Amino acid sequence: MYLCVPAESKSINETTKDQPPPVISSTTTSIAESNSSTSKLEDELKVSSRLLKFAFNDLKTATRNFRPESLLGEGGFGCVFKGWIEENGTAPVKPGTGLTVAVKTLNHDGLQGHKEWVAEVNFLGDLIHPNLVKLIGYCIEDDQRLLVYEFMPRGSLENHLFRRALPLPWSIRMKIALGAAKGLAFLHEEAAKTVIYRDFKTSNILLDAEYNAKLSDFGLAKDGPEGDKTHVSTRVMGTYGYAAPEYVMTGHLTSRSDVYSFGVVLLEILTGRRSMDKNRPNGEHNLVEWARPHLGERRRFYKLIDPRLEGHFSIKGAQKAAHLAARCLSRDPKVRPLMSEVVEIMKPLPNLKDMASSSYYFQTVQADRTGSSPNTRNGSNGVRTPAGSFSRNGQQHPRSLSIPNGSHASPYHHQFPSPKPQGKP
Ligand SMILES: Nc1ncnc2c1ncn2[C@@H]1O[C@H](COP(=O)(O)OP(=O)(O)OP(=O)(O)O)[C@@H](O)[C@H]1O
Ligand SMILES: [Mg+2]
Repeated sequence: MYLCVPAESKSINETTKDQPPPVISSTTTSIAESNSSTSKLEDELKVSSRLLKFAFNDLKTATRNFRPESLLGEGGFGCVFKGWIEENGTAPVKPGTGLTVAVKTLNHDGLQGHKEWVAEVNFLGDLIHPNLVKLIGYCIEDDQRLLVYEFMPRGSLENHLFRRALPLPWSIRMKIALGAAKGLAFLHEEAAKTVIYRDFKTSNILLDAEYNAKLSDFGLAKDGPEGDKTHVSTRVMGTYGYAAPEYVMTGHLTSRSDVYSFGVVLLEILTGRRSMDKNRPNGEHNLVEWARPHLGERRRFYKLIDPRLEGHFSIKGAQKAAHLAARCLSRDPKVRPLMSEVVEIMKPLPNLKDMASSSYYFQTVQADRTGSSPNTRNGSNGVRTPAGSFSRNGQQHPRSLSIPNGSHASPYHHQFPSPKPQGKP
């Protein structure tokens, strides 16, 4: 049995009462939001009628006893397993038949994990959109908390950008950015009530067989401000490297914080670099800080573009995307664009065909080779070889290199310093 396997244990009341607010060793979370959750489960959980309720034993069978071969990935919340269930039902079926699903198991991390599970059921139970991952159902039995999603065959954008040997082609990168932007635009501007997503990052962008992007993980999502309020006050949670600076400083959350995170992801897509990468030289650890000066220089934006593309990108598209990323990353949240505007700007980008040839790329890079181009520090042909960010076997540096919190925490997520004390979220 895999370590992640949910264990039979105590009831939710036992796990939550008398516990201090847990700071979970999540890859996502910083500070537990509140320790005042004494409300009954029924009050918290407003299960949408379309969601299916699963029995724990059925999910155990569906994932073949949560066996390691079924493991799709692991995050701060817990492990995610592949499973098979009957179409339009909850019964497990033979692997390879029926409907393929992803089953997320909650680690026994107490109140914070439970709160994220409730938020996920409540938000995703209600929200249906082609660019949001579909929550099929949930399981709550004693202290077991599981979620059942549609299976996304191409996994996460993080895997494709940073862990695969083959680089993602340019037009697919733009398609993914556009799809993810549509997901955020729906949450901010089209859903019945504004939702602030708060955890926009490459590992939460999942891909179907055609590289359509769908947002997953609504554990940190918040309802937007109501009435004439400009922001929601909340403890700072999210992922280091993606969170907007004003949110980290003040705890004031607006949909423009998500727009900033979109800018960070767009930059990761353009550069092939992680938002935080301690394995890069000094001055290049923080992607936004490293990229900011180049974003303003129209003629030299190509220095940003992922060298693994070897010039196979649209020049016009890359210029537009770099300019858009700069606007999303504006320090003043008010001048960041709305996500609907981002969608309009992104729409033509996957189809632009003015591809920079490799010779164009090499010429421009060569012409600029004064030794200062960060992307040309490795490799004699002026293109950073995969070894620049990948280890010799083509794998990304192991996550365990700089894990700050526990064995499954990612090196790219940290606890934020406490913001100024705020009212309860
Ligand atoms: N519906 C799904 N279909 C296919 N794979 C999935 C699905 N949901 C999650 N995964 C895989 O499982 C991995 C872990 O997901 P999870 O959301 O638990 O953690 P994470 O996003 O990597 O980190 P964090 O806890 O910070 O959100 C994902 O990166 C993805 O590869
Ligand atoms: Mg996730």
